[in-house]
Amino acid sequence: FTCTATIDPAFVIAAVPPRLFGSFVEHMGRCVYGGIYEPDHAEADVNGIRLDVVKLTKELGITTVRYPGGNFVSGYRWQDGVGPLEERPVSLDLAWRSIEPNTFGLNEFMAWARQCEIEPMMAVNLGTRGVEEACNLLEYSNFPGGTQYSDLRIKHGVTEPHNIKLWCLGNEMDAPWQIGHKTGREYGRLAAETGKAMRRIDPSIELVACGSSSERMPTFGSWEADVLDEAFDVVDFISLHAYFEHHRDDRAGFLASAHTMDQFIEGVIATCDHIAAKKRSRRKLKLSFDEWNLWYENRLVVQDHLDWAHGPRLIEDEYTVEDAVVLGSLLMSLLRHSDRVTAACLAQLVNVIAPIRTEPDTDAWRQTIFYPFALTARHARGDVLRIEPVSPNLHSETGGDVPAVDVTATHNADTGEITVFAVNRDEHQSGDLRLRLAGAIAQEVVEHTVLGGADFLATNSKQTPNRVSPRSSTSHRIDGDLLCIDLPPVSWSMIRTA
Ligand code: AHR
Repeated sequence: FTCTATIDPAFVIAAVPPRLFGSFVEHMGRCVYGGIYEPDHAEADVNGIRLDVVKLTKELGITTVRYPGGNFVSGYRWQDGVGPLEERPVSLDLAWRSIEPNTFGLNEFMAWARQCEIEPMMAVNLGTRGVEEACNLLEYSNFPGGTQYSDLRIKHGVTEPHNIKLWCLGNEMDAPWQIGHKTGREYGRLAAETGKAMRRIDPSIELVACGSSSERMPTFGSWEADVLDEAFDVVDFISLHAYFEHHRDDRAGFLASAHTMDQFIEGVIATCDHIAAKKRSRRKLKLSFDEWNLWYENRLVVQDHLDWAHGPRLIEDEYTVEDAVVLGSLLMSLLRHSDRVTAACLAQLVNVIAPIRTEPDTDAWRQTIFYPFALTARHARGDVLRIEPVSPNLHSETGGDVPAVDVTATHNADTGEITVFAVNRDEHQSGDLRLRLAGAIAQEVVEHTVLGGADFLATNSKQTPNRVSPRSSTSHRIDGDLLCIDLPPVSWSMIRTA
């Protein structure tokens, strides 16, 4: 089948926001302990940081990392994780029924983030704690010195302030499973008052209010409206969280996930703009999609049923080729909303539903989903362009009618480079994508990379860490102002022209 679209560098949505390529490190399962931090591992440095994970984290190209949770943060006492190791308590993490040794905390995380050249995105506990504790943490982190908490940081050996700019006001406070769960009004008031006080300490910070923990929550829409009624003037972002999965026998619905993500984002934008209109504000609130990914295993883990353990193996999903194709299309959804979604975090980074996997007795390896993320983060540069593909539709029970081909492109005005990202959702037929390059005649294709097209269920594992990787393709041609690209069934493609 054929799909056509026009690429015109004049049709700009927005500049690619660097923070779109964020990730997430939670004290959950083996993300921190046995993931980024494992003092006994052969690759660990003197601080216990796994250098093989640092290397892959850099290769992945992530720009920001949200920390320390997730559900974990809603019961966390940050003070337990700073200061001399021998004085740190062992505590109970009620979110994941885990034993938390507190040998990795704020200062270790900040050192790791610097090592990886990543901007931190810090979450405060608004579950069991509140305004005062959030202020104390900010004072410890960002105040230069001469006060109780800034001097405590200096006493802990960190003389320069961390200067953390991006702060999440709690996590998923709409969710009944959250410790300290609240109504939208209750949370909105707390978020507004916490944010107001935090800004008095450091007016340069940016604040993220919790949106819904999923579009499927019964309170979705009204939660955002209630929270923003209270906190609109204080916060810079509202958050979105979404996890997708391939339900049995519904490949078409799964491949349509990016369409569902588009609709979710547009619903939240509508709610933000509704509140702005009510408040006679012209401000376009930004969206932080600070948890997104695919999630299968133990999706319905009920925290109450876990056995107490330190660093248990939780939701270590192994991803397929098809998952990588869907993940590539989810990134395309984020890109085409980059005028409003200016921060996002792939949840999570290591082991826990993650692009990077580790074991104690071998080097870290890349899951299939690593590749579309890394390639998009590296090559989506300059401006995101508005594209309206004309493609036949595919139908599924869960996804409805969705175009068989999804296309997004970026244009780097400095280099003239255009990067096209395309997904073929059809599982039986190749697509013939014909792009008309208006006002920017491509001289040549400098890279054409494909993932998928066959062996949809192949994975990388400890035994076969390199079974799946992207391949180079020559199935394209430039014909006048037309760039024609062959899109194999169930595939993600990236084409760079110069
Ligand atoms: O990323 C795993 C969990 O999913 C996070 O802790 C929580 O915020 C979400 O429900």
